[in-house]
Amino acid sequence: MQSYKSILKETSILYSNEEIHKGIKNIAEEINQAIQGEFLYVLTVMNGALFFSAHLIPLLNYKIYQDYIHATRYGEKIHGGLVKWIKEPTDVIRDQNVLIIDDILDEGITLVEIIHQCKAIGARNVFYAVLFDKLLDREKIIKPTFSALNVPNKFVFGFGLDYKGFGRNLSDLHVIN
Ligand code: IMP
Ligand code: MG
Repeated sequence: MQSYKSILKETSILYSNEEIHKGIKNIAEEINQAIQGEFLYVLTVMNGALFFSAHLIPLLNYKIYQDYIHATRYGEKIHGGLVKWIKEPTDVIRDQNVLIIDDILDEGITLVEIIHQCKAIGARNVFYAVLFDKLLDREKIIKPTFSALNVPNKFVFGFGLDYKGFGRNLSDLHVIN
């Protein structure tokens, strides 16, 4: 098995920690201007968005209720919104403005299911913020309401995102060469 150190040697830094923080500050300003109202119900998508949320939420000017949600896709090959819920949104979001915070938008399959579930519960508005938007060569089924930084169609990790379960604690965003 390849060692962690040798894996890191085969990566480059796509965004430094400083660049990520600038992106988070900008997206926070955008959200504060765009979403009207006193209350905001924030749902952090575990595990990847844990770090992004921890930095973003203190920059938001609302009376905030914060919870987490956790969904995984059934294996790699299944498409069509089939996700398995580990922690579903609860009905406290009924009639509320909901902001979903996620790490990266790839194909958007998980996200579509998350939004569907929030709307089924009766959320008034569902907004969606991602730290990274992966640029694919095809149209996505969904666009983020807010996104901080674009990444190429490559595997990235660090700042919350994992590579085979590790690397979430890296302060920069790494890309595999
Ligand atoms: P989607 O359903 O295809 O949008 O899958 C999105 C989820 O896959 C993200 O929330 C991440 O957890 C994971 N993911 C997608 N691309 C990457 C990547 O480059 N690095 C780490 N995780 C990724
Ligand atoms: Mg995720």
